[in-house]
Amino acid sequence: MIPSLDASLLAASPWWRPDPGTHLVIRGGARLTGTYPISGAKNAALPLMVAALLSPHLVTLHNLPANLDVAVLANLLQRLGVGLGWSGGRAGLTLTLCADRLHPRRIEGALVGRMRASILLLGAMLARCGEASLPMPGGDAIGLRGIDFHVAGLRAMGAEIDLAGGMIQARAPRGLHGAEILLPQPSVGATQNLMLAAVLARGGTVIRNAAREPEIADLARCLIAMGAGITGLDGDLLTVQGGASLTGAVHSVMPDRIETGTLACAAAVTDGELFLEHARAELLGAGMPLLAAAGVALEETGTGLVARRASAGLIGTDFRTMPYPGFATDLQSPVMAMLATARGASAITETIFEQRFRHVDELRKLGADITVHGRTAWVRGVTRLTGARVTATDLRAAAALVLAGLGARGETALDGLEHLDRGYDGMAEKLAACGADIRREARA
Ligand code: UD1
Repeated sequence: MIPSLDASLLAASPWWRPDPGTHLVIRGGARLTGTYPISGAKNAALPLMVAALLSPHLVTLHNLPANLDVAVLANLLQRLGVGLGWSGGRAGLTLTLCADRLHPRRIEGALVGRMRASILLLGAMLARCGEASLPMPGGDAIGLRGIDFHVAGLRAMGAEIDLAGGMIQARAPRGLHGAEILLPQPSVGATQNLMLAAVLARGGTVIRNAAREPEIADLARCLIAMGAGITGLDGDLLTVQGGASLTGAVHSVMPDRIETGTLACAAAVTDGELFLEHARAELLGAGMPLLAAAGVALEETGTGLVARRASAGLIGTDFRTMPYPGFATDLQSPVMAMLATARGASAITETIFEQRFRHVDELRKLGADITVHGRTAWVRGVTRLTGARVTATDLRAAAALVLAGLGARGETALDGLEHLDRGYDGMAEKLAACGADIRREARA
């Protein structure tokens, strides 16, 4: 259960049906057809919600996805004094945030422990209030996921940060100042955190080796609409002219490229045809040619993408995950689930997170032939998977197991649904509307 979640927050969404006492039962084999509405991107929505902390004026976000991470972050913001107004329906949620009176109090562990993106509160609260105190962030158990880049960058901007007893205590008594920062790796979260802090800092900040994921440009566009000076949105060198007093803004969250790629695979696995409404091909980066090589046909229309299995069928394909525009680590597990029944073998190398093969044992329970050697998984395609009881260990693993279940013979029961609901806006309900035999059932 989420501590103190105001359920009415997300009640406006037609897809919002999570219940911790349930698991997902999927009877495989149904062809998916129809329109699958792609929601706003979770990984864009969370930093955009945090951006509202930087201004005392109203920030309105359209097209927010209704998922648990959004609900948890909304609760965190509310406890910091942010006023929230929700509305919306089928076209996505709208949230208006008002951070005119913040209380920079200690942020509770129960909520922060649930999500990695809570680390973004560090940069934003430091910049706005001159102090921040929060527990080390949680999120998926997929690797070490340090915060050293975040801490080093904020220290370069004048913050005093103490890490002890699982807590992050940060102060900037004289305010933050601009700095030249070189990220050791293009970290998505560190780039966002430092950008948020730099917007209110005195003077200019340069972030070199910045991550280039499209969610970062989406955050920058909203900050620019709020009055921030940011350039370099298309590259790995971001410059932020700090010190502007920010206004409010109205911003629409970009479509979810990970949900897009995952559902394209679902259409191919079931040999169906889905119209992925609102999806944008250019956001997939290296995912586009890779999916084509693996046998997923994608066709752009003015308002989305049509996805189906190519006539040659699914074909084993080698790939490695890389920072954007390379192939997204968040699509590694769904694509692996799809390639489990492709013709031939695939070598899949994970370079971003060291523990991101935890779905392999679960896919094996369904009959997949996969072996892991170090950071590479070798997948030998089998004709068909067979339903079984499996457990999701993280968000993207949950999506992979749903895909596997959709293509499998017989019934798959998926436990660990909270992972799916953390990051996807009603995936089970949207799939059912496209013909999947999938339902939430009370756990026996
Ligand atoms: C974000 C996404 C996540 C995605 C990941 C990579 C959100 C909410 N989450 O996570 O879905 O899988 O990008 O595309 O947007 N690292 C450090 N020290 C740091 C920061 C990162 O060592 O201070 C390492 C991480 O352990 C990892 C790599 O850098 O190996 C990339 O992590 P990062 O890009 O920061 O991922 P997140 O922002 O956590």
